[in-house]
Amino acid sequence: MSELSTVILDRIRDVADYPKPGVMFKDITPLLSDPVAFTAVVDELAGLHQVDKIVGIEARGFILAAPVAYRAGAGFVPVRKKGKLPAATLEESYDLEYGSATIEVHTDAFAPGDRVLIVDDVLATGGTAKAAVELVERAGAHVLGIAVLMELAFLRGRDRLDGVDVRSLVVV
Ligand code: PRP
Repeated sequence: MSELSTVILDRIRDVADYPKPGVMFKDITPLLSDPVAFTAVVDELAGLHQVDKIVGIEARGFILAAPVAYRAGAGFVPVRKKGKLPAATLEESYDLEYGSATIEVHTDAFAPGDRVLIVDDVLATGGTAKAAVELVERAGAHVLGIAVLMELAFLRGRDRLDGVDVRSLVVV
């Protein structure tokens, strides 16, 4: 296991029965509040691909994606839950681990052929990431990959993302 993986795993807190009984929630706030660990994670994600835009997925994805965009010298594009973006949008609906949701992106968020890295905190069932890939491609950009801090392997999200380069800094 790499040194960074150990740093990350040591700073992810298991919270039992959140958001509902029987679920073990992976809380990344201890990692975010550690300046050395947070910087190391952002630097690692920013070095994965040479891209024009970093897409962050609301809400926890924003926490990582915005500094990754800054570090990579790329633009930041928010993918938000339905109804939050002010101008014309494209939307995709998907099943989530805890229900269902619709996400949106602005129709003019990308220049044609923009190279994009999608960044999120967690890959669980893969529904959110798959919908985000479809949104970005429909908006005329090209997804070089998806990068997450943490992959919950037992939910097999990676299997829904066939053909997409999926990188996770830790697998739990
Ligand atoms: C969480 C997480 C990912 C998504 C992963 O977001 O931040 O975006 O779920 O799940 P999936 O792979 O099963 O789709 P959530 O919708 O809970 O929203 P939040 O970031 O606003 O807390």
